[in-house]
Amino acid sequence: MSGAAAGRTAVIAGLGCHLPPDVVTNEDLTRRLDTSDEWIRSRTGIATRHVVDPGTATSDLAVEAGRRALDSAGCEADAVVLATTTPDQPCPATAPAVAARLGLGPVAAFDVSAVCSGFLYGLATATGLIASGTAERVLLIAADAFTTIIDPADRGTAVIFADGAGAVVLRAGDPAEPGAIGPVVLGSDGGLSRLIEVPAGGSRQRSSGVAPAPGEEFFRMAGREVYRHAVDRMTASSRQAAEAAGWAGPQDADRFAAHQANARILATVADDLGIAPERRLSNIERVGNTGAASLPVLLAQSAAEGTLTAGHRLLLTAFGGGLSWGATALVWPDVKPV
Ligand code: UT7
Repeated sequence: MSGAAAGRTAVIAGLGCHLPPDVVTNEDLTRRLDTSDEWIRSRTGIATRHVVDPGTATSDLAVEAGRRALDSAGCEADAVVLATTTPDQPCPATAPAVAARLGLGPVAAFDVSAVCSGFLYGLATATGLIASGTAERVLLIAADAFTTIIDPADRGTAVIFADGAGAVVLRAGDPAEPGAIGPVVLGSDGGLSRLIEVPAGGSRQRSSGVAPAPGEEFFRMAGREVYRHAVDRMTASSRQAAEAAGWAGPQDADRFAAHQANARILATVADDLGIAPERRLSNIERVGNTGAASLPVLLAQSAAEGTLTAGHRLLLTAFGGGLSWGATALVWPDVKPV
């Protein structure tokens, strides 16, 4: 768990998102995969998703979302944290290039790797930078060009994952202010890392001296098993986050934003937590699962559409590869995305 130091924490001051313009419908996918619009809608809740065009990288999405968040906050940042599963290259981190393209100068910039939990891990990290006095304003971006690691022939993942970027600007402020980040509940279970993985391309495979087998460079997910863990972990961490924030329980949430993994998972978690349907934020039908970007894209779209407004008590939770998960509870501030 990461907490804010008494008297000084991070406060959300701006947000924005960016989705690549190309939209792929379920019908489009049926032309190259043994699947159907009915299966995808009923099993996942997804109808359309945005995908990058050839040559577009994660940093391109991140720069757009980051610029919008900075414009929304009306300030610059002295640190950039980028949560991503799909860095532009294995080395170096992508955040320094993003900071440079945003004209932020020689600021601290690094990547956080926690797959679909990346935004919450990034939020805890950025809060620590501010609480310790290392930074005054952090630009936290979560961006994934997830389709670049998906096997186009794998119907179990190709219908779910998509591309996008979301960002928040965090400034130093008081723990009692709206938008203040309090304790972030974080966890992992590396014993189950094989349930979500890209087998090849890292030091394990490279040091073996054996070339990757066909398909090993692609993302793999044991969907049914992951499903069960996603429900358990998002439910439990949401309860912990509500308690850590001093709420009576998750049912205190005016709005619930969960990583947009699967509409059935989201409904089960929210039902278990006693959160009424009208309090659940969701955009999975339009954007699919955008990895680390999922939560900030959901927040930016919901704030833009008016379903998330100042004063709402907001419960956030995510789950992903690692396995990793997280949750936090806060009061939504008066910020408008650009
Ligand atoms: O973001 C990180 C966290 N990710 C998650 O939390 C995702 C968790 N998992 C899921 O969302 C779901 O498990 C999936 C959407 C991936 C799969 O849905 P499911 O209801 O768990 O299906 P399943 O894997 O149990 O497969 C049921 C059937 C199988 O056929 P048989 O063996 O029953 O004949 C699959 O081969 O559905 C088949 N199937 C498909 N059929 C049509 C799997 N994918 C597809 C497809 N179209 N795209």
